[in-house]
Amino acid sequence: MADTIVVNNDPFDVYITTDQIRVRVKELAAQIDRDYAGKVPIFIGVLNGSFIFIGDLVREVTVDCEIDFMKLSSYGDAKISSGEVKMVKELNCQVGGRDIIVVEDIVDTGLSVDYIRKHILNENPSSLRFVTLLLKTGIPKIDFSIDYVGFEIPPEFVIGYGLDYAQKLRNLKAVYRQRPHA
Ligand code: IMP
Repeated sequence: MADTIVVNNDPFDVYITTDQIRVRVKELAAQIDRDYAGKVPIFIGVLNGSFIFIGDLVREVTVDCEIDFMKLSSYGDAKISSGEVKMVKELNCQVGGRDIIVVEDIVDTGLSVDYIRKHILNENPSSLRFVTLLLKTGIPKIDFSIDYVGFEIPPEFVIGYGLDYAQKLRNLKAVYRQRPHA
């Protein structure tokens, strides 16, 4: 796999390798297995960015589980959040009385997880936790903690392993970070 890729004349360097991701996903799954022993959680993937992470995560988890997806309005083609979150695809499952684990690709401003938390708590789940592959340090404006974090990263723009650059490059196997401008 290339260590550097160039997108629209912008170089991106490998930041988290596929091996590092694989190891960490297994650790997160083992932790979730321990915490949910004897329960049947519903994993809720937040589309589109979490589709690869949730696929890898649930295949490492061994507790019985269900899987559903929701979709929020995205950044579109912008690299900066518009600050507005809207539901684009609702859940199909009933969350009332269930153990819910929301799966995010990245928590950046925290607006999405904040919105999702309020939305799901409204339906009275038995419990609600969040797992994210990446957490940008310093930025999240949330007054609750993210229960399972793959990697804490500085507030820089990253792509790959589900994360897009103008909807492209989600299929990169590693996470790449935009090289700071000289
Ligand atoms: P938040 O609401 O600002 O926490 O961000 C939510 C969504 O923005 C994530 O689920 C991603 O889809 C997208 N996002 C945030 N940071 C990045 C990034 O560095 N690269 C690509 N997408 C990002």
